Amino acid sequence: MYYRDSTSKVDTAKKILKVNHAGEFGAINIYRAQIFVSRFFRRDYVSLLENFLADEYKHLDIFWTEIQRRKGIKCKSYWLCGAGGWCLGFVSALMGKTGIMSCTWAVESVVTEHLEHQLVYLKSIGDHRAVDAVQAILEDEQHHRDVGQKEGGADAFLYIPFRWSVSFFTKSVIVFGMR
Ligand SMILES: [Fe+2]
Ligand SMILES: [Fe+2]
Repeated sequence: MYYRDSTSKVDTAKKILKVNHAGEFGAINIYRAQIFVSRFFRRDYVSLLENFLADEYKHLDIFWTEIQRRKGIKCKSYWLCGAGGWCLGFVSALMGKTGIMSCTWAVESVVTEHLEHQLVYLKSIGDHRAVDAVQAILEDEQHHRDVGQKEGGADAFLYIPFRWSVSFFTKSVIVFGMR
C-alpha cells in the first residue's frame, strides 16, 4: 500500500503512527493468545513468544509516545486490532508449532512490507521523528519474520491462507484507520 498526503484534518504521518500503534496492539494480542495456548500444549515455545511479546510492548510504547507528542488519540481500529489479533493467535496456536510459526511469518512479512512503504513516504515529507519511530521497530519485526520462517512457518498449506487473511485484515484496518 502506498501513502499520499491526507485530505482530512489529520495528516498522513499521524495516521500512520496511529495505525501502527493499533497494529502493535494486534500483535500483542496474537502473542498473548499464543502464549496462553502454548502453556498447555507447547511449553518449549513460551519463552520465544514472550520475547516477541516484550518487543511488541516496546513498539506500542514508541508509537504511543510519538502520538501523544503530536496530541493525537488512539486509532478507531485499536480494539478491533486487539480482538482480531487475539482470535488469530488463538486459532493459529491450536494448530501447533506450524500454526504459530506460519502465523508469525505471515503477520511479520505483512508488517515489514508496510513499514518499508511508510518509510518511503515519511522520508519524502521529511518527518524525521516519524521515520525514527518506524525505523526503531523495523529490525525487530524482520527478526520475528525470519524466526517464523526458519522455525517451520514455511508450510505453504498454512502460510498461504494465513498470509491471505492477515493481508486482507491489515489492509482493511489501514483503510479504515487512515480515513
Ligand atoms: Fe511490533
Ligand atoms: Fe513483531
